[in-house]
Amino acid sequence: MAGSPTKQDLTWKSVQELAINGDKPPARYIFCDGDGEQIDGFPPLFPVPVIDVSLITSSTSQSSKEDEELEKLQSALSSCGCFQAVGHGISSSFLDKVREVSKLFFELPTEEKQKYSRAVDELEGYGTDQVLSERQILDWSDRMFLGVHPEDQRKLKLWPENPGAFREVLHEFTAKIKFISEILLKAMARSLKLEENCFLNQFGEQSTMIARFNYYPHCARPDLVLGVKPHADGSGITILLQDREVEGLQLLQNDRWVRVPIIPDALFVNVGDQVQIMSNGIFKSPVHRVVTNSEKERITLAVFYMPQKEKEIGPEDGLIDEKRPRLFKKVKNYADIYFQYYQAGKRPIDAAKI
Ligand code: OGA
Ligand code: NI
Repeated sequence: MAGSPTKQDLTWKSVQELAINGDKPPARYIFCDGDGEQIDGFPPLFPVPVIDVSLITSSTSQSSKEDEELEKLQSALSSCGCFQAVGHGISSSFLDKVREVSKLFFELPTEEKQKYSRAVDELEGYGTDQVLSERQILDWSDRMFLGVHPEDQRKLKLWPENPGAFREVLHEFTAKIKFISEILLKAMARSLKLEENCFLNQFGEQSTMIARFNYYPHCARPDLVLGVKPHADGSGITILLQDREVEGLQLLQNDRWVRVPIIPDALFVNVGDQVQIMSNGIFKSPVHRVVTNSEKERITLAVFYMPQKEKEIGPEDGLIDEKRPRLFKKVKNYADIYFQYYQAGKRPIDAAKI
């Protein structure tokens, strides 16, 4: 007979542990695709536009090459809402180091990882989907979720000390990602003929950056289970370091799922809802999902760059005119709105539509 519940009873099982026996995943992980369709792990590959960041870093040189690249950027973000960034200045060996510490962390024994567990009602730390209802379909993934910016708000006790290089590598990587994000946000503004700091000003001095390490164990039923359910990101922009070898990310394009290719040293960048709002809907926050793989695990690192929490954001005035009326209200604390809508199964950006 079971005794009275203790705190211990609440300890969760990681997907990594569930995957070990190779059995069919438990019912709460089975995702029914709309009308019961199975999940297609290999739809067509989508030629995600490739942007060379080194060509769009300066606002003064104004070479024709830069203009061309800015046009490509504008067109990518207003159609599929994403691109593969090359020429970003982070070395291939450093990207591999980031992948290596991520892998070493997830390979630690359960007890070691659980030292960094997310508290039940918190976002940050090591864990799985937050379970809010019995009917919720769960993602086939474990995560490590850590706020990295503003620096004085880091919860360092949740930052792994094992592997030894984890903290330092994460610090260095996210500093580089912040630098690149700022270049990109300026270029995005210039590509729309706006003052280059306008988006960054909306992000504010205390902009937020969150790192999410995603671990997708192999899964016995990739036809029934998703690594991450369909969603658009609630960020301003998201920069994703993909696994070097294992694919899994898919985008919804014209109502069909397509595969995102791997370019080993490229960073996959996508618009989040908040930049869709700031751009008055010109830039699109794409719906995406992650499929699982029956043989291989997959590890990615998503970095979400977002405006300062309490700051009101809204469409840039320069993007509103008679031909293109204002599409979104001003909003603040979008992350909270996002969470409520997402949990209710609604598209969060609808909350900001006029
Ligand atoms: C995310 C996400 C994609 C991936 O973390 O929001 O969409 O490939 N991740 O891990
Ligand atoms: Ni996402």
